[in-house]
Amino acid sequence: MLTNRITEIFGVEHPIVQGGMQWIGRAELVSAVANAGALGMLTALTQPTPRDLRTEIARCRDMTDKPFGVNLTVLPSIRPMPHMEYAEAIVESGITIVETAGSNPAPFMPLFDAAGVKVIHKCTSVRHAIKAQQVGVAAVSVDGFECAGHPGEDDVPNLVLIPAARAALDIPIVASGGIGTGRGLAAALMLGAEGVNMGTRFMCTVEAPLHDNVKRAMVEATELQTDLIMRPLRNTARVARNSVSTEIIRILDGGGVFEDVRELVAGARGRTVYETGDVEAGIWTAGLVVGLIDDIPTCAELVSRMVAEAEALICGAVAMIAAPV
Ligand SMILES: Cc1cc2nc3c(=O)[nH]c(=O)nc-3n(C[C@H](O)[C@H](O)[C@H](O)COP(=O)(O)O)c2cc1C
Repeated sequence: MLTNRITEIFGVEHPIVQGGMQWIGRAELVSAVANAGALGMLTALTQPTPRDLRTEIARCRDMTDKPFGVNLTVLPSIRPMPHMEYAEAIVESGITIVETAGSNPAPFMPLFDAAGVKVIHKCTSVRHAIKAQQVGVAAVSVDGFECAGHPGEDDVPNLVLIPAARAALDIPIVASGGIGTGRGLAAALMLGAEGVNMGTRFMCTVEAPLHDNVKRAMVEATELQTDLIMRPLRNTARVARNSVSTEIIRILDGGGVFEDVRELVAGARGRTVYETGDVEAGIWTAGLVVGLIDDIPTCAELVSRMVAEAEALICGAVAMIAAPV
């Protein structure tokens, strides 16, 4: 058993988190992660309105009696979202775990604190993690350069980012980005994290609500098949490489502006990929860890084998130290 402050604070069996994932973080996946003893996050903004989010939370509760949380991502978007109304829907639904991401969680903390919600803030730098600790979050999830989605602009991989965060913080850290195996879990614990957050790896599970073609493309992909788009606009996103991602890079590297790529980056096109299985229909999110994915397990299989592998590796390392030479 791997138990620590993360399992204690969030009331889960294993120190493994399924981070928010736009279009994917729905009740089917989150309840499967929860039933596997890990911490799943519904993705608030996947639901078109705060009212739909309340319904999705209730649907998830019908599928599990284990703890789960909700991700609230606050990023500039083509269609502005009523983030505070989503936050109110979360609290009024009785959710006690929230993953915030995208910007400083301070505006939401009075609401969450008053309701006894434990916040895990996802960020991409030590300075943002320190800021989150100052505003009272329970834990931080630190996303390294390897991660799917928004790695920030500092380009610091987890081998350096996690120990740097560990040295600067008192609250527990969850390592995020590039993790998909027990080896990654064991390494993250050694680097100073008390858990791991995974997006890409949970996307490629039986219960993840996306077309099988996309899962099969992930199994076939190597670690060389992601792109960093939107770099010149300082809004970098790591996505699966396809004809759309390469076109966006070509336009922006050639001096294009956001308006020139607006239609290509539209979230609705990404959603089409997951729904139809046409992996060239739009941009879709995936991290470097696709190179380590070679099957489509259930969430329960994935979590139990990761924990077993990590425990065996840690015990092996201890035995190596203890063994007489
Ligand atoms: C398909 C997909 C969609 C994502 N959408 C969001 C999101 O809406 N909000 C968010 O905070 N993180 C989002 N992420 C990031 C994940 O929560 C997590 O931080 C990241 O995937 C960790 O890196 P990994 O993919 O290497 O495990 C997304 C990731 C994926 C793969």
